[in-house]
Amino acid sequence: MTDPKLRVLISAERIHARIRELGEQISRDYPEGRLHMICILKGACFFLTDLARAMKRDVYVDFMGISTYGKGKTTSGEVKVTKDLDISLEGSDVLIVEDIVDSGVTLNYLMHVLEQRRPKSIRIAALLDKPERRLRPVHASYVGFQIPDEFVVGYGLDYAEQYRNLDDICVLESSAPAAG
Ligand code: IMP
Ligand code: MG
Repeated sequence: MTDPKLRVLISAERIHARIRELGEQISRDYPEGRLHMICILKGACFFLTDLARAMKRDVYVDFMGISTYGKGKTTSGEVKVTKDLDISLEGSDVLIVEDIVDSGVTLNYLMHVLEQRRPKSIRIAALLDKPERRLRPVHASYVGFQIPDEFVVGYGLDYAEQYRNLDDICVLESSAPAAG
């Protein structure tokens, strides 16, 4: 796909290599017990499916819908659960799988919500981290890539529901260069 507004930041090859490393590392860190991977919809669904297949052990997979962003690039600051889990977390190790940690508002809220469900432990795996943007404290135990403060799309990440199915992670430039 050639779109003048898109600049590749992380290629599909680099994403897949890094996810294989994360899968091996997380599998070593959880050698036994029930491990629940919770995909935060919709952005993390591509990451979840690749990460789950990179795991060297059995995992449970569940989905949770959370919305914080409106249709644009800025957060509304308001967090809403739009789809809840199907499986109980009681006594399980929980791994929250998220596409990106930006302000930290979403994950900070979600940690509080899920802690109340009495899991054995909770950690976060985020494909991307923009540490400069943090407003609320969030610690991701597993991070694919730290990126600068730029708006990115692809590999699950969207802008107004567009661009999720790009293979690469790309920076979405705010205005296209002049034609000519
Ligand atoms: P936070 O609550 O500000 O940390 O926002 C997390 C959510 O905002 C992510 O799950 C994404 O859906 C969205 N988000 C943050 N930064 C970006 C970006 O650069 N591109 C696309 N979505 C983003
Ligand atoms: Mg998201």
